[in-house]
Amino acid sequence: MYKQSLKNIKKIKNTEIYIFSKTTKIDKQNYNSENSIKHYKNFLNWLMKTFKTNNKKFRNDLFKDIQFKKNQKILITGVGNGDDVDFLIKNKKNLNLKIYTQDLSEKFIIHCYKRFRKQNNIFYNLSNASNLPFKDNVFDHTYHFGGINLFGNIKRSINEMFRVTKDLGSINFGDEGVARWLDNTVYAEMMINNNKLWDRKIPLNYLPFNSSNVKIRWLLGNCFYFINIKKNNNFPNVNFKVKHKSPRGGSIYSRYVEYKKIKKKKFQLNKKFD
Ligand SMILES: C[S@@+](CC[C@H](N)C(=O)[O-])C[C@H]1O[C@@H](n2cnc3c(N)ncnc32)[C@H](O)[C@@H]1O
Repeated sequence: MYKQSLKNIKKIKNTEIYIFSKTTKIDKQNYNSENSIKHYKNFLNWLMKTFKTNNKKFRNDLFKDIQFKKNQKILITGVGNGDDVDFLIKNKKNLNLKIYTQDLSEKFIIHCYKRFRKQNNIFYNLSNASNLPFKDNVFDHTYHFGGINLFGNIKRSINEMFRVTKDLGSINFGDEGVARWLDNTVYAEMMINNNKLWDRKIPLNYLPFNSSNVKIRWLLGNCFYFINIKKNNNFPNVNFKVKHKSPRGGSIYSRYVEYKKIKKKKFQLNKKFD
């Protein structure tokens, strides 16, 4: 499960929280101060009220594309105060899921540990989402909401979620980002003026090559993107050699070979006359 033997891994005093990374890198002001939990709860309440929903409905929406089966393992990165864990405990009781929670903030992960300590199916680790402490292909689902824009290295964090997810497993994540079709509207201007992070773009260019069944949604008044992906090591699965019945003829493969030959010739000619 973990890359290192658990015997050599430190724990936070009197807990079952494994420490793989120090909290030092995190924005202390927002995520690792005495008031982090309270501030984040206030923010979530404001968010739910603003978009006329509630946490239960919202979490239900976030998880709706995940096809859970009994005894599966899910990793929740940047777990925060644990509302996603709470939702799964209450709404997927019969599935006997193993829930692995991860965060870079000691304050948040200790809060989750205290909140769910009576549950024996929740596991905790303090680490960086861009360098997860897990082996490859161990989770049926990986999931994150609400913090990836500030994880420092978004591309690596997405790649890490992929790496630790099993083939055919699901990867789900989302964060602030007003939908681009709202660009230049007063609505978008108001939202972005309220919070600069809402101007972030959906990071589609960072999705790994083997992403399949990609579903993209915008939630909370189209101010947050959410992506659901199936990891599929055999995707894209294409026959490049099917011939066209057309004047140009050839196949994707033969047309590409031809194109590369021409490109090479042009390059050699240019070099000669340089
Ligand atoms: C806005 S909160 C989101 C909380 C939660 N996922 C939710 O849906 O309510 C962002 C969380 O990401 C964590 N975080 C920030 N940078 C991180 C990183 N590099 N690796 C892991 N967690 C990180 C913060 O400590 C915080 O708990």
